[in-house]
Amino acid sequence: MLDLVVGGFYGDEGKGKVIAYLGLKDDPKLAVRTGSINAGHTVTLEKRTWKLRLIPSAFLNPNVKLALGPGVLMSLDVFMKEVKETESCNRIFVDPHVGIITAEEIEEERSDEYLMNVVGSTGSGTGMAEAKRILRKLKLARDYPELKSYLASVPDMVLNVIEAGGKILVEGTQGTYLSLYHGEYPYVTSRNTTASGVLSEVGVGPKYVNQVIVVFKAYVTRVGGGPLEGELPWEEAQRLGIAEIATVTGRKRRSAPFNLKLAKHAVRINSATQVAITKLDSLFTEAKGVKEYSKLPSEAKKWIENIEAELRVPVTLIGTGEDVYDMIDLRKEKGVM
Ligand code: IMP
Ligand code: MG
Repeated sequence: MLDLVVGGFYGDEGKGKVIAYLGLKDDPKLAVRTGSINAGHTVTLEKRTWKLRLIPSAFLNPNVKLALGPGVLMSLDVFMKEVKETESCNRIFVDPHVGIITAEEIEEERSDEYLMNVVGSTGSGTGMAEAKRILRKLKLARDYPELKSYLASVPDMVLNVIEAGGKILVEGTQGTYLSLYHGEYPYVTSRNTTASGVLSEVGVGPKYVNQVIVVFKAYVTRVGGGPLEGELPWEEAQRLGIAEIATVTGRKRRSAPFNLKLAKHAVRINSATQVAITKLDSLFTEAKGVKEYSKLPSEAKKWIENIEAELRVPVTLIGTGEDVYDMIDLRKEKGVM
C-alpha cells in the first residue's frame, strides 16, 4: 500500500522532515517524489542538514529505493548534484516521462515580470517547462543519454512493490493553497499539489492509497504574493520565533498564526486520514526535543487537542525540533498506521 504526504498550507510545512522520519521508521520499499525543483525540502539528522529540491526525503534510510514520478520536472544539474550529496546513485530511478528544465526555461521565467513580481515565482523554470510540456514541446528524461542508467517506469515499480505486499511512501510538494486548481489562483504554483494531484504524478489509481497524511506547521508561512490572513510584521514574527528564510530563494517568508479555517478545508479536500503538526517547539519552547506526548507542557497538549477536536482527524505525528528523530509518533496508539 501507499502512504501519501502532502502540505496543508502554502508549502514549507516541514514535509521533508516528516517523510525522512517515516522513511526511517516504516522502512518502505520505495519512496517516490513528485513536484519539481521549485520546492525545497529540508532534512536534518544529527546536526547534518540536506536541502533537497528533487531527491526523495526518505533517502536517509539506505534500504529505500528512490524514484521520481512521471509528473516530475527536474534539471540535470540539480539532479546530479543531489545524487552526489545523498550518495543515492545506485538506488535512484527516474521515470522516462519526467520533464527536463533547461537554462532556457529558467531564463524565460526569470525575465517574466508578471511571474516574478506579481506571483513571486521561485524562478526555477518550473512553470515555463510545465507550459511547454502541455504544448508537447518539452524534452523528457528519455531524450537524454546521460540519464539512461537511471530510467525506469515508476508506475510499474510502484505496482510491483504493491503486488509484493510492500510499502510505498509518496512525497508531495508545496501545499494545498498553492495548488493550480484548488489554491489561491493566480498566487499558486504550476501544478495540482493536493493528494489527488500528487497521486496522478505518480501514475497509479487511488485504490492503493493507505494513509493520507496532511502536514501543517504550528504557524503559517508563505513566500511570494497572495493573501495571508493574520500576517505579522517581520519583527513580530522574529520576536515570536516564527521568522523564516526560504530554502530555494533565500527570501524572507511571510508568517501568520495557525489558521484553523484553512486547515479544516485542507483536511477535507485532501481526504486526510492523519495530520502531522511540525515545529511545535517554536510555539512552546519547553516542547523542544520531546519525544513522548505525556512529556509535553500542558499548554502544548491543550493546543494540539483543540486542533484535533476541530479538524476531527487524529494528530499522529508531532515535530518538536529540527532533527528527524525530534518527533512524537502516536500512530500506534491512535490505531492509524
Ligand atoms: P513557482 O512555482 O516557482 O512559479 O512559484 C509560484 C508561487 O508558489 C510563488 O508564490 C512561490 O513562492 C510559491 N512556491 C513555489 N514552490 C514553493 C515551495 O516549495 N514552498 C513554498 N512556496 C513555493
Ligand atoms: Mg520548502
